[in-house]
Amino acid sequence: MSQGVHFIIGASGQLGTELALSLVSKGEHVVLSDVRRPAHQNLQSLEYVTLDVRDRGAIDAALIAAEASHVYLLAAALSARGEGDPEWAWDLNMRGLLNIMEHASDSQTVKQVFWPSSIAVFGPETPAAAPQCGERKPTTVYGISKNAGEQWCAWYREHRGVDVRSVRFPGLIGHRAVPGGGTTDYAVDIFIEANLTGRYTCYLNEDERLPMLYMDDAVDCIHDLMAAPADRLKVATSYNVHGMDFTPAELGAAIAERVEGFTMDYAPDFRQAIAANWPDSLLDAEARADWGWSPKIGMNELVSIMLEAKKVVLSET
Ligand code: SER
Repeated sequence: MSQGVHFIIGASGQLGTELALSLVSKGEHVVLSDVRRPAHQNLQSLEYVTLDVRDRGAIDAALIAAEASHVYLLAAALSARGEGDPEWAWDLNMRGLLNIMEHASDSQTVKQVFWPSSIAVFGPETPAAAPQCGERKPTTVYGISKNAGEQWCAWYREHRGVDVRSVRFPGLIGHRAVPGGGTTDYAVDIFIEANLTGRYTCYLNEDERLPMLYMDDAVDCIHDLMAAPADRLKVATSYNVHGMDFTPAELGAAIAERVEGFTMDYAPDFRQAIAANWPDSLLDAEARADWGWSPKIGMNELVSIMLEAKKVVLSET
């Protein structure tokens, strides 16, 4: 891990919280920013800036003041929430990215940018096991913005020399912060409800298979990609990364093996149609070959970790 100033935008969100905790544990200098303060108790003493990523002037001022060398742009409107307010979601996701890319283009201080893409760039014509170069015809505002963002990142890398690195994350499952506004959020909600009430009503169909990733693997993925030599990175857009895949019924059955009496039922809503257009899994040979991507946690281990730790997240946040 290179020493420098790691500036996280969207630091109060699910991934931002976990990334911040990880960077701090590695002894890195971390500056947090978001539109609301982080809730996690272990982040309270860190430098924090209130920042709307759509505000170019505020971005410039905050990154210059912090002398940011590594910028992680994690602020975004996710798939389910974005469908309810398309213009807002597009503006947040795109204006935010362009502001950071423009700043990084001009900056002598910013060395690297991390920006996550998503499984949402794929669409109904993508094969169930999505190849790295699988057809991208996204059907959500979120997916459209991530798809365009991938091309913008490639453009800024090619034409402005910005060292921006990116992966297509599947659903992220962790226990140190709660997600918000995503279609894959059920796979976190289910653990909260399993521990609290012993039952869960799922908004997806029981057989809706989706790719997922345990949060510690996602955070290691960011560290490893940022540390990889630039000349090893052959993919011009965003790398597929896969951790595991399962259906709600399979996850529910694994939880029921460990939580006596756990029951599940189904009330699919609009999020089912979003999930139906996403692949079941991602083929990630390029990430493995180019920078050594290798996730550690599968579904059974994930279930054990989440059932233990869920008690922690509820008291910490
Ligand atoms: N977790 C995201 C969502 O559900 C997908 O990248 O919107």
